[in-house]
Parts: sequence; structure tokens; C-alpha cells
Amino acid sequence: MLKRDTEWLVPNSTFPDWNTERAEQMLLQQHPHPFSPERILQSLVLLQLRFGAVTNPMQEWLSQKSGVALTDIRALMSFYFFLEQDKPPRYHLRLADNIVERHAGLTSLQESLTHRLCSADCRIDTTSCIGLSDHPVSLLVNGFPVTHLGPHNLDELCALIINRVPLQKWPRSWFAVDNRVHHKGPLTSYPYQRGKALTQARGMTGDQIIDRIGEAGLRGLGGAGFPTAFKWHWCKQQAEPVKYITCNADEGEPGTFKDRFYLTEQADQMIEGMVIAALAVGAQAGFIYLRGEYVYLYTHLERCLRRWRDSGDLGQDFDIELHLGAGAYICGEESAMLESLEGKRGIPRNKPPFPGTVGLFGKPTVVNNVETFVCATYILQQGSAAFKNTGNEKSRGSRLHSVSGDCRQPGLYELAQGSSLRTLLELSGAHNTLCAQIGGPSGALFFEDQFDTPLDFENPGRGGSVMVFNKDRSIVNITRHFTRFFRHESCGFCTPCRAGTVALDQLLDQYEHNPALQAKSREDMQELVQLMQHSSHCGLGKTAGLPVLNLLQREPAHEQ
Ligand SMILES: Cc1cc2nc3c(=O)[nH]c(=O)nc-3n(C[C@H](O)[C@H](O)[C@H](O)COP(=O)(O)O)c2cc1C
Ligand code: SF4
Repeated sequence: MLKRDTEWLVPNSTFPDWNTERAEQMLLQQHPHPFSPERILQSLVLLQLRFGAVTNPMQEWLSQKSGVALTDIRALMSFYFFLEQDKPPRYHLRLADNIVERHAGLTSLQESLTHRLCSADCRIDTTSCIGLSDHPVSLLVNGFPVTHLGPHNLDELCALIINRVPLQKWPRSWFAVDNRVHHKGPLTSYPYQRGKALTQARGMTGDQIIDRIGEAGLRGLGGAGFPTAFKWHWCKQQAEPVKYITCNADEGEPGTFKDRFYLTEQADQMIEGMVIAALAVGAQAGFIYLRGEYVYLYTHLERCLRRWRDSGDLGQDFDIELHLGAGAYICGEESAMLESLEGKRGIPRNKPPFPGTVGLFGKPTVVNNVETFVCATYILQQGSAAFKNTGNEKSRGSRLHSVSGDCRQPGLYELAQGSSLRTLLELSGAHNTLCAQIGGPSGALFFEDQFDTPLDFENPGRGGSVMVFNKDRSIVNITRHFTRFFRHESCGFCTPCRAGTVALDQLLDQYEHNPALQAKSREDMQELVQLMQHSSHCGLGKTAGLPVLNLLQREPAHEQ
């Protein structure tokens, strides 16, 4: 069996020179068929990680080896933000541009870094949220996460860069990521016994496993809240013998970082859940789609997978491959993720057909979020009643909430489904709170009169994140930030979203700065959002106008 060697995947500031033998050897260590067309994106990502960039000669070589047209490779290079064709500087700083990071001082830190490092071998730019908004200001240095950047450690960071200290020699604490679960619950504290749930599942038929998941009332925790048993059942009943299980670990919604915790500390539960799903539906292969921002978890996850192979639970009837994304938020949308897993640009597909019928490589496919698989393992080990007895009628179980922003204790909180936003705000030490954005930019903005709203599947914001804003914050600013996020992340495939997100940003500008045109811009924005909701191709465009609607609903009361 292939022993994937990723020991080189550590913070690095000097990259070895590229040559074809070296590149081929590295790629073959990761996969037996690195030049098959569906592996092409993974090969680009791995070349980028190993050699710092995928230069033109590398692209030409890959095109020749794989038979994939050079134009298609170039299209991938331009689609995925993290793929670069120019030789990188010694240090590449990507600061996370999330509203919470802005409120924590991102802009002045960026200005200061730009000024102080102007003659260093260094590039500074921003990227969307990197899943660390509990530790602002956060950034990636050559792809690896640094947290809590602020006036207290700015001098040290600049000195390391100006003195050209290799990343391998930076104190390890620079790259430490702390996962703080401030409030534990069943999922994060039960006595997990590796393999016990799987042993249970092996003694059951596929239908019995699915019934067990159904009895528990498990619904997907990636955002849409679709019943998991129904998804599995649908996939199982397809006549096609080849089926796949995919785990969505893209976690791109700004302000969300719960999957980061599971991937770091409960990866075995996630993997076990995928194997259980495979048994239930009769799948032969599985894939974990890990966001590029979490590359620092790649080796850890490979090691976990290796242990499952060593124990014989993976690698025979069913195996799991780890794929890395490359900085495109849209690849969290399930059909875009499938496209990306097939080695293509992450352009969402038409739905229907849904992945359960026509999914990865055209075969029936289960797509579930990391936390959903963790719950499946919990249910099989602890019994469906243990899960079902927590939560409320329509939203069973508990879940992790990612809390960031204006509160004393940003971090993770496991609460029963249906707990109120107020409880979460109190637990996290939020005070003087104006409002909270639930479920990321595509969720909803809740004000004080809505703080008793239950956080569950029947209410907006099923994604499990809460960004807290105090009374010093401006709703217009928050809205502008979210609107720009969508503008930046639109994949550009359909006009209502591609042009609509740009127009919305401009109208918002006009609304804010031109009082004479305020009523007109308001009307235009409402019309445009409606159009985007009805005619966009995927969920991104359909929800991109929600922050503006939130603003307009509240505007007279809060901004004038
Ligand atoms: C623009 C967009 C981005 C998304 N990003 C994610 C993501 O990062 N992680 C995730 O699990 N689901 C994401 N989703 C939802 C997925 O499409 C899909 O519903 C989910 O992975 C299904 O898993 P679940 O049933 O376990 O929730 C996104 C959806 C949209 C429209
Ligand atoms: S709605 Fe936006 S993200 Fe979705 S396909 Fe259209 S352009 Fe792409």
C-alpha cells in the first residue's frame, strides 16, 4: 500500500528547485496515478506546496504528462486563489479579512506590516476568513496559520522576516492553534471508543444503520439541515453499484471554525462516521475535501487515515482519500466540491439531479459535513435515544457553535439544538451587544428583540456560527464587508450573481455616501436582491443579498 510521505509539509520559507524527476517522485509518493486527469488539481496543489509555485514550465510538463490541455490547466490556475505561477517571495503573508478581524485591528496591522516590511523579501495581502476568527488577527504565513497578531508581537514578527529567519526556525508557538471548547456537551465529551460504533454497524444491515440514524433525527450540520438518513437511503437505493462517500471539510463560511476542532481533535469519529456511511449505502470509496487554509492538518489527517488502514478498517472494501482545496469558498457548495474533487474548477452544477443520484464521477454520492459524520459515530456508539433526547422536536441533538467577535470568550460552545442565542451570548461573555450575525454572511443578523430565538434548523443560520457585534459597530460597515465577500467569492459563472454582487456593492456605496439618492438606492437594492434570489444558479448568489436585506429592515431604527 502507498505510504504517503508528507513530512515535508511543514512551515517553510525556502523551496527546493523544481525539476521533473523531483516533481514526479513527490507526486508518486502521494498517489499511484498523479497524472490522471481527475488528479490534476491535486497535483497542482501539491506542486505548489512543495515548490512554492506552479510555474509555466511546470504547467507545460503536467499538461504533457496528463494529456490535459494547457488551457484547462491555466483555467484551474486562475480559478483557485491559492495557486500561483510566479516564484514566491521568501515570506507570503495572507491576512484573514473577516469583519471580526477588521474589528480586531486588521487594517492598521496590515498598514503597519506593509510599511515596515516594504524592503523585505515579503508579500502581504488578504484572503477571506481562514477559520480562525476566534483568534484574531489571524493570518497564513506561507500557508501556515499564525494567530493573535497584534501590537504585542508585531515587532517580533517583523524582526523574524527582516532577519530572514527560516520558518522552520521560528519558535513553534507561532504556528500553534488553540481549539477552545468553552462549553462541552455530549458530542465533545462522551467516552468515544474507537471502532465500537463501526462494530455495531457491521452487525446491522444497511437499512438498519440508516433507520438508526433516522430514529435519532440527525440532520446535516453543514448548513442546509437536510435529514441525513434520507440522503443515505436515497443513495443506497440507486441501482448503480459504484457509490461514493464525501466529507465536506471546506468550512469556508466566515466566522465558522467548528470543523477545525473536529478535524484536529475528533478526526477518528469523522472517519468512523464515513466508514459507517459506506457500510450503510454500499460505497467503495470516500473523499475528504479539506480546505486549503487547513493544510496544516493534512499530515495529521493522513496519519489518522493510516491508522485506520493499519487496523484493517480502511483499505480493503472501502478507502478514503484526502483532497486539498485551494482557496475557493464556492467549493464548499456540494456540487462545486464534487467538480473540484474531479479535478475541475469549482463551478456548481445544475440541481437536480442531486448528488445522491448523480454525484462524483456521475455516481450516487453521499455528501455530508464533518460534524454530521461525527454525529453518526456518536449515534451508533451511544444509541439513537442518546442523541434524540437532546434538542427539540424538529432539531435533535446538540452541536458546536463557533462564537467570535465582541465577547470575552470567543471559541466553541456545544449546546443542545434549540438553545437560545441569548444563552450563547451570556456564556461567551458578550456585553453591550448590538446584534449578532448567525450562520455567517449568508445567514441572518439578529438584534436584541430576537435574542431569545432558538438556534436550530427551523430558524435562519443553521451553520453553527455566531459573530457578535457591540454597540460601537456600524451595521452599514458590516453589510459592506459581507457584500464585498460575496463579490470576491462569486465564481463568475452566472450573470445575476457575477454582475449582481458588483452592482450591490456599488449601490451600497451610493446608499451610504449620497443621501440624495438614498431612497432610490434602497429601492434598487431591494429589486436587485430579489432578482439575484430568483435567478442565481446556486446558493451563493441566492443568499448574497441577505446582508443588504438585513440592513434595510433595520436601517431606520438603528442607523439614522
Ligand atoms: C456557497 C455555499 C458554501 C457552502 N459551504 C459549505 C462548507 O464549507 N461546508 C459544508 O459542510 N457545507 C457547505 N455548504 C453546504 C453544502 O452544499 C451541503 O449542503 C453540505 O455539505 C451537506 O452536508 P450536511 O447534509 O451534512 O449538512 C455550502 C453551501 C453553499 C451554497
Ligand atoms: S450564483 Fe454565483 S457562485 Fe453560484 S454559480 Fe452563479 S456566479 Fe457562481
